[in-house]
Amino acid sequence: MVPQEEPILPIYEEPVADPNAHRLWIQEALNLQLAEPDARTLGQRLYDTLRDGIQQGQLTSGSALPSSRQLASELGIGRNTVLGAVDRLIAEGFLVSRPGAGVFVADWQWGPRERLDVQAMSPVTLSRRGERLLDFTTPPSARHTAFAPGVPALDRFPRERWQRLLRRHQQRAPVDWFDYRNEGGVSALREALCDYLRLSRSVRCQPEQILITQGAQQGFELIARLLADVGDEVWLEEPGYGGAQACFASAGLALRPVAVDDEGLNVASLPAGTPSPRLIYVTPSHQYPSGTTLSLSRRTALLALARRHGAWIIEDDYDSEFRYTSAPIASLQGLMDNAPVIYVGTFSKVLYPGLRLGYLVLPPSLVAAFQRVNARLHREGQYVTQSALADFIDEGHFSRHVARMRKCYRHRQAALRRALAPAVARGLELSSGHAGMHLVAYLASHELEREILRRGKEANLRLSPLSGYYLRAPGQPGLVLGYAGATEAEIAHGGRWLSDTWLALA
Ligand SMILES: Cc1ncc(COP(=O)(O)O)c(C=O)c1O
Repeated sequence: MVPQEEPILPIYEEPVADPNAHRLWIQEALNLQLAEPDARTLGQRLYDTLRDGIQQGQLTSGSALPSSRQLASELGIGRNTVLGAVDRLIAEGFLVSRPGAGVFVADWQWGPRERLDVQAMSPVTLSRRGERLLDFTTPPSARHTAFAPGVPALDRFPRERWQRLLRRHQQRAPVDWFDYRNEGGVSALREALCDYLRLSRSVRCQPEQILITQGAQQGFELIARLLADVGDEVWLEEPGYGGAQACFASAGLALRPVAVDDEGLNVASLPAGTPSPRLIYVTPSHQYPSGTTLSLSRRTALLALARRHGAWIIEDDYDSEFRYTSAPIASLQGLMDNAPVIYVGTFSKVLYPGLRLGYLVLPPSLVAAFQRVNARLHREGQYVTQSALADFIDEGHFSRHVARMRKCYRHRQAALRRALAPAVARGLELSSGHAGMHLVAYLASHELEREILRRGKEANLRLSPLSGYYLRAPGQPGLVLGYAGATEAEIAHGGRWLSDTWLALA
């Protein structure tokens, strides 16, 4: 039998800009107009056709119009009719005539583009979940450096070194890094992280237990989706981190605020008969935002409670590198073997939030499910960035950067304390500041909190109310004052304003 040749499919060619294309477009557009009965004259119809084409972008700036003779003969209309329409468009600035060259579409635009105001909330029907999620958000605001909580010193990040590493890995990247992946992240980064976590955070782990995510937030989402069902209880610190609250709310979990005192999360404060938790979210090294450390007795009690209830503890260790008066505190995860703890880390504070890299340290039994679902729901990626980060850690840049930032933040905190000293001398109470990137200033009333916020807005300062960190109103009044992301001069300026304002109002 004679082998049949495979039919070769024609290749679709993208149309390219063709000088004839305008002629054809004008012809078709005008024919469409002429097909409909219309009271307008032929000249008016040609004028409207050309003007619409220019305004809507079919006739592009700078392109040549066919000659009036050509247009008249192809459109089957008088040359004077064409000239009348074209002259009017030249007079109005839509077309320009270049003697000897022809007539061209003017370099024409609508003027400065009016921006769509998409932030003004229009009446739209969101899901009940969507409405609830909006409660955990604030409208976007211009970047204010002084006092934005959780923002690191972006001006001090070693950009050139980082760029060099990124370039190196971009050049070396094997082609399969551009593919869909599902192994939990670049192995070099998981190994580097594992060494770092074992050494500096006493985390018990193997590289295989680490799942690289696009930040802590994605980690919380995965935990909520994979380990809890709609309506299950999640216990959270009160006051606490809004990002975690939002993730758990979006997964339909029942959020149960648990009071925090000077030993951290106090589960004994819950009334008898409180339903069992499925998840318990804590920031044991440095409670966010109060700054307390979960005491050893509470740690062991919490692990035992989680075991009893078959619950998972989510340990959010977001900024433990920045401890000023003692060595970093060992993790809760590392307190015992097979602890029912998922350790969540992020590079948002130690490097920068726009990097969008974080990780989970999962108990071995959870690794496969988390890897597979993460690859399905969120996809893996950023392999070039991940491997640059592995080198950044292995070559010692990471620990040097952390050490430099620790020093920098100590100075920035001291600048804030100096600026607030007059108010502190008159009774303004501040949190200890032994660690972290913010101080809390406690206020005597909600009225005072509201008034300082109002005046702060007028003074162009972004102040965060402590009461906003509570799930249950009204919460404690105060201010969460981020100092890491602003220069000492900016902090001194904002701090003096706050001290003066507090002295005037308190
Ligand atoms: C308590 C806490 N956890 C985690 C994060 C980091 O989240 P992500 O890694 O998603 O940027 C933050 C950032 O503000 C935080 O305050």
